[in-house]
Amino acid sequence: MTFPDLYNRRFVLFSGKGGVGKTTLAASFALSCARRGERTLLMELDAKDKSSTLFGATTVDSEIREIDDNLFAVDVTPKEAMKEYALMILKIKLIYRAVFENRIVSSFLRVVPGLNELVMLGKAYYHATETDDDGNQVWDKVVVDAPATGHGIFFLKIPMVITNLISTGLMFDEARRILDLLRDPERTAVALVTLAEDMPINETIMLSKTLREEMELPVALVIANAIYRPLFDDQQVRWIEEARTEVDDDSDLTGFLEAARFRNDRVTMQQNYLKTLRDKGDWPILEIPYYFFDRMSFAIIDEVAKDLDEHLTD
Ligand SMILES: Nc1ncnc2c1ncn2[C@@H]1O[C@H](COP(=O)(O)OP(=O)(O)OP(=O)(O)O)[C@@H](O)[C@H]1O
Ligand SMILES: [Mg+2]
Repeated sequence: MTFPDLYNRRFVLFSGKGGVGKTTLAASFALSCARRGERTLLMELDAKDKSSTLFGATTVDSEIREIDDNLFAVDVTPKEAMKEYALMILKIKLIYRAVFENRIVSSFLRVVPGLNELVMLGKAYYHATETDDDGNQVWDKVVVDAPATGHGIFFLKIPMVITNLISTGLMFDEARRILDLLRDPERTAVALVTLAEDMPINETIMLSKTLREEMELPVALVIANAIYRPLFDDQQVRWIEEARTEVDDDSDLTGFLEAARFRNDRVTMQQNYLKTLRDKGDWPILEIPYYFFDRMSFAIIDEVAKDLDEHLTD
């Protein structure tokens, strides 16, 4: 299977259900881009687990910080993004304070549907298109760790919803610009991350269809994360089954045989879900192995970065 070259898009978003590995994949992809010499910005949107902290002791917040060679990270919160955005428009801090830090105004803004998502996407848009004084792009890559779906779908839908609802004004212009970037397959790619399990697979199939057909976003590939490597061939599986019926319960072998069977069942189950994923769509599927390291460890990111570099090359 050939994979689309994510490395030649400037704006790459990782989306998917909660807990499937979005943060891990976004950080790994960003790391592999940086190792190729690209100036890369990893944007975490209102994240609870900040993968960027795995790169060292530096805490990442709303300031852009270098966390590795060529690799920069920022954590975007709606509050900070809103402030930056408002300051960009209002220019004057004093007015910002008077307007946005007003208790009534800020509690009103908190509940405007979609505004948080729009300002966070607006910040991602700003960096994906940011140029220096000489007109050169500041970032070769902007990698976004998107919020989990349901939230994620809402998040990506917002620019389209806004442009469908209103047709002029500041918010319309902003949403239109973001939507044009999101829909542009030359600059943007959406990678959908999933586990080979029932709920994530079904949600991924639905999400991919919605993103492609309804929203016209360039879904480049599905990444099936944490896949177990098969350990036994058919002959060996038969041998395990036979041996299980023959050994006594208190045999030293019982535990080993149970473990072998359990592992094999997991592999079979994952392979069945991968088949469903292949049958239900024409998207390229990249399999990333399960790595036996501490959870949320840099070792996983390092391994996955190498996998991406190897499989997503031109
Ligand atoms: N390929 C892998 N092998 C082993 N462990 C993994 C792998 N990918 C992710 N993990 C682990 O699974 C856990 C969940 O991953 P991660 O935080 O990236 O998911 P997420 O989709 O960002 O979750 P959330 O929706 O909560 O933000 C983490 O502890 C991570 O270290
Ligand atoms: Mg995450």
